[in-house]
Amino acid sequence: MIEDIKKIWSEIESFAEKEIEEIEYFRIKLLGKKGVITGLFKDFKQLPPEQKKELGKQLNQLKNFAQERINEAKENAELGKKGFKKVEKPDLSKPANFIGVGSRHPVSIVRNQINTIFSRLGYVISEGPEIEDDWHNFTALNFPENHPARDMQDTFFIEKSPDIALRTHTSSVQVRVMKNSKPPIRTISPGRVFRNEAISARAHCIFHQVEGLYIDKDVSFADLKQTLYYFAQEMFGSGTKIRLRPSFFPFTEPSAEMDVSCNICKDKGCPICKYSGWIEVLGCGMVDPKVLENCNIDSKKYSGFAFGMGIERIVLNKYHINDLRLFFENDERFLKQFEAVI
Ligand code: PHE
Repeated sequence: MIEDIKKIWSEIESFAEKEIEEIEYFRIKLLGKKGVITGLFKDFKQLPPEQKKELGKQLNQLKNFAQERINEAKENAELGKKGFKKVEKPDLSKPANFIGVGSRHPVSIVRNQINTIFSRLGYVISEGPEIEDDWHNFTALNFPENHPARDMQDTFFIEKSPDIALRTHTSSVQVRVMKNSKPPIRTISPGRVFRNEAISARAHCIFHQVEGLYIDKDVSFADLKQTLYYFAQEMFGSGTKIRLRPSFFPFTEPSAEMDVSCNICKDKGCPICKYSGWIEVLGCGMVDPKVLENCNIDSKKYSGFAFGMGIERIVLNKYHINDLRLFFENDERFLKQFEAVI
């Protein structure tokens, strides 16, 4: 009988997936009234008691094994009929699958670096709403009524009169900080901003900024210059040179734009710096006294500086990426390249 049990066991083991009718035929052959396993149970009754103990156990195992395999085959056949794939029973003793932890987005990597550099100088992070009213985004910042930046071309308006729009810069957050706290103020505002621009390799309608604000007694342009110089050394490497070019922003006077020396070609000229040896990174200036007054800060007592930079542009330069659109496409082949960077 042991031989019979072994033979039937291996027959069940090698029973491949089949159609329902064939499985039923197999069941009858094994477990039906005249089935081979049923037959073995009949023979079993005739055995002497000393053999019954061990063989009884084996026979029961065989019967259960047959029943389980038949049930499983039937389930799979049903699934197959419905067009589903047959499910393999999982092997729970196998080692677990590797769960990839993903990688940080390059924009987040650089934003975190900027945040860390300024937090070392005592700046705190402030955040604000992406949907803003005209006052926080423009009026408080001294934008004249007919300034082109208010134009529909630049701003995504959500509602007209009162004007509600997607913020075009995070200076709006700094207005909120100035209104709600008293100097000394030392804050940076990272966040998403929106401008109605045609999407291309060098421009996008959504991008990220970090803007900084420092207000206290006797803050001077020299303080601004030194702060930005420190930032450039930390961000782009020691030995990086900076240069300030006069510029215009409605909310700062005087205003400037800062370039850093191109550390890719080391001033020799390359496509990244457009053969100038310099890369433009941010706008800055002394906060216009009118802006301080708009936010109830006494401009006779306090002065301050502000600066603002686009994170994407820094990422482009740092990692030599030539198309801004890559940041928004969620293409793993691009994102995975930053796996090793924290
Ligand atoms: N808000 C300006 C922009 O979005 C940047 C800036 C901030 C310039 C602070 C000067 C001072 O371009």
